[in-house]
Amino acid sequence: MNPVPPTATAGRNQLRSEGDVNLSPRRRTWAAKHISAETQRLLDADARHFLHQSLSTPCLNALKSAQGAWIEDLEGRRYLDFHGNNVHQVGFGHPRVIAAVKEQLDQLSFCPRRYTCEPAVRLAQRLGKLAPGDLNRVLLAPGGTAAIGMALKLARVATGRFKTISMWDAFHGASLDAISVGGEAVFRQGIGPLLPGCEHVPPPDNRHCPFKCGAACNLACADYVEYVLEKEGDVAAVIAETVRCTPFIPPPDYWQRIRAACDRHGALLILDEIPIGLGRTGRMFACEHYGIVPDMLVLGKGLGGGVFPLAALIAREGLNVAGQHALGHYTHEKNPVACAAALATLEVLESENLVEHARELGAYAMQRLRELAPRRPFIGDVRGLGLLMGVELLRNRATLERATDEAEQVMYGALSRGLNFKVTMGNILTLTPALTISRAEMDQAIAILDAAIGEAEAAASAAPARL
Ligand SMILES: Cc1ncc(COP(=O)(O)O)c(C=O)c1O
Repeated sequence: MNPVPPTATAGRNQLRSEGDVNLSPRRRTWAAKHISAETQRLLDADARHFLHQSLSTPCLNALKSAQGAWIEDLEGRRYLDFHGNNVHQVGFGHPRVIAAVKEQLDQLSFCPRRYTCEPAVRLAQRLGKLAPGDLNRVLLAPGGTAAIGMALKLARVATGRFKTISMWDAFHGASLDAISVGGEAVFRQGIGPLLPGCEHVPPPDNRHCPFKCGAACNLACADYVEYVLEKEGDVAAVIAETVRCTPFIPPPDYWQRIRAACDRHGALLILDEIPIGLGRTGRMFACEHYGIVPDMLVLGKGLGGGVFPLAALIAREGLNVAGQHALGHYTHEKNPVACAAALATLEVLESENLVEHARELGAYAMQRLRELAPRRPFIGDVRGLGLLMGVELLRNRATLERATDEAEQVMYGALSRGLNFKVTMGNILTLTPALTISRAEMDQAIAILDAAIGEAEAAASAAPARL
């Protein structure tokens, strides 16, 4: 049976939840101006040889290098990378990470299952020490999605239950188990039956809250989690991103309320900090902002220093109960080179004070972005934690109508000026630079953003009918 295709508009809006739409007229216009024949040949070859999938085909551009906070394309144009897929906590190609990788390659380049190795054990020890509370049992995996799968399995084994509660709009990876707990239509639709027992609840997004909190959150969304825990009665785990990388910043009491509800109902709390852990929010782990300790914490992305795919599940000591089950069993579970990259990354985070830097520079950037709002009517909200920042663009601040086309225009305008970022939910400019970024580079990025928003506003007032 052929899947029912979503309508063109619905399909496009669903794609927008994860990023910009790579088939839009604005993309074509940008490409016509910026993509040379040589780059186009590579893009065509990419499209010719890879299986096509939403969001990644066709590619936007081709890169030849990535250093520090910057990426550089084949034509030598440099972009401050405020997306970086969130692997660039220590910047791209950090010399200490690269040196550690090279050294490890000469020493021991792989560790077959049934064996262990020094870098893997040191990394597990280090992560256990860094993680809050009694989170000190570690399992490594070659990617975030895989680590989420291990967390879901461990929750089943530990509780003897299988149901989960997770958030609409959440992303936990693209595998079948991860999209079952994920909440984005673009991943869930048209792909067949998902895991049973995956209940979804509204995320803490006070701009579009179905409980109508009117942007003054009264934590009804947190209370609803407890309502579902109570009604279902046998939920294994609540799994969520501590702070969605859009970002949606939950109010201060949100996680405490959910933590307490989980405890009352015997459910585990799994926090996915794959893109935002390791300092991005101005604390080593985002849950530290909320004064809670989950039962399991999942890290990934930048853990491998932006060089190697590596993720970690860190669980409470008491959850070391699955000795008879294969939770991960991944071929690269204890890859020494990936572990060496991770150890170097953690050292760099500490020795270069990158967590404090993210906190301080993030506060500065947020203030500067907020100062733009009075003269940039498109800006509906500026929010963030550390160097996880979002600028929401609205057509109308009163009705909160999303400025989706305008956000795309701003994105391409910024790209043309040397700033790369992702748009999420159609209208939120999601800004996640390398934590190594300097204040001067941040000022440069904000100036570009200001100019790109100004250009989009000028275009809108020149053609008011479009609004
Ligand atoms: C919140 C979150 N969870 C899980 C994942 C999946 O990680 P990976 O792509 O390494 O499998 C991602 C990736 O973007 C993510 O942002």
